[in-house]
Amino acid sequence: MRIAVVGKGNVGGGLADLWERAGHELTRIGREGGDVTGADAVLVAVPGGAIAAALDGVQGLEGKIVIDATNLVGAAPPAGFFSNAEFVKSRTDGPTAKSFNVNFAALYGRLRELPSRPSNLWCGDEEARDVVEQLNRDAGYEPVYAGSLDNASTQEGLMQLIFGIVEGGMGRFVYRFAPPDQL
Ligand SMILES: NC(=O)c1ccc[n+]([C@@H]2O[C@H](COP(=O)([O-])OP(=O)(O)OC[C@H]3O[C@@H](n4cnc5c(N)ncnc54)[C@H](OP(=O)(O)O)[C@@H]3O)[C@@H](O)[C@H]2O)c1
Repeated sequence: MRIAVVGKGNVGGGLADLWERAGHELTRIGREGGDVTGADAVLVAVPGGAIAAALDGVQGLEGKIVIDATNLVGAAPPAGFFSNAEFVKSRTDGPTAKSFNVNFAALYGRLRELPSRPSNLWCGDEEARDVVEQLNRDAGYEPVYAGSLDNASTQEGLMQLIFGIVEGGMGRFVYRFAPPDQL
């Protein structure tokens, strides 16, 4: 698959490396922007509050399958939208999914050593299912469908709850394979 990642940080860069190892062809796009016309799938992994600015710099998004991995930490979705994922869809008018936002990038390096695949939520459009579920498995996760794109704002909000659990010292009940020093 030809995959473009927008955002080259922990999540964008980390998943790009995992997918490249799984045999996919990656294009990495940062603040300089770029063109995704040739991509079969696009991952957006920029700070949640920067989503509009980031997409402004990307050409060729129309009709694309886009996976939005952003979280809204101290930020709100663009005005008029319940979630960043729904904002993404308004820009692409293509199949859209929310995924990779509730697992920590610090643990990507361990995924292939684990005795079983950790679960990873995705919600979104049915037309995105095959791509999202394949890219979950190719990264080392077992995808868990969490409903339509209407659930994206709830999935975005889930991270706030998980931060609370981790700060309370119970992170291993959510991320059972995580060493305590990585949460
Ligand atoms: N870290 C995690 O474990 C984790 C897990 C799940 C979800 N998330 C979410 O995933 C997103 C990315 O997190 P991260 O940890 O990968 O952050 P990060 O390491 O800070 O990387 C963010 C990337 O986005 C780029 N960026 C910022 N503004 C941009 C713009 N306007 N256009 C294009 N690229 C832009 C940054 O470029 P510069 O380097 O030039 O600033 C950087 O490459 C966030 O929404 C975060 O909440 C994070």
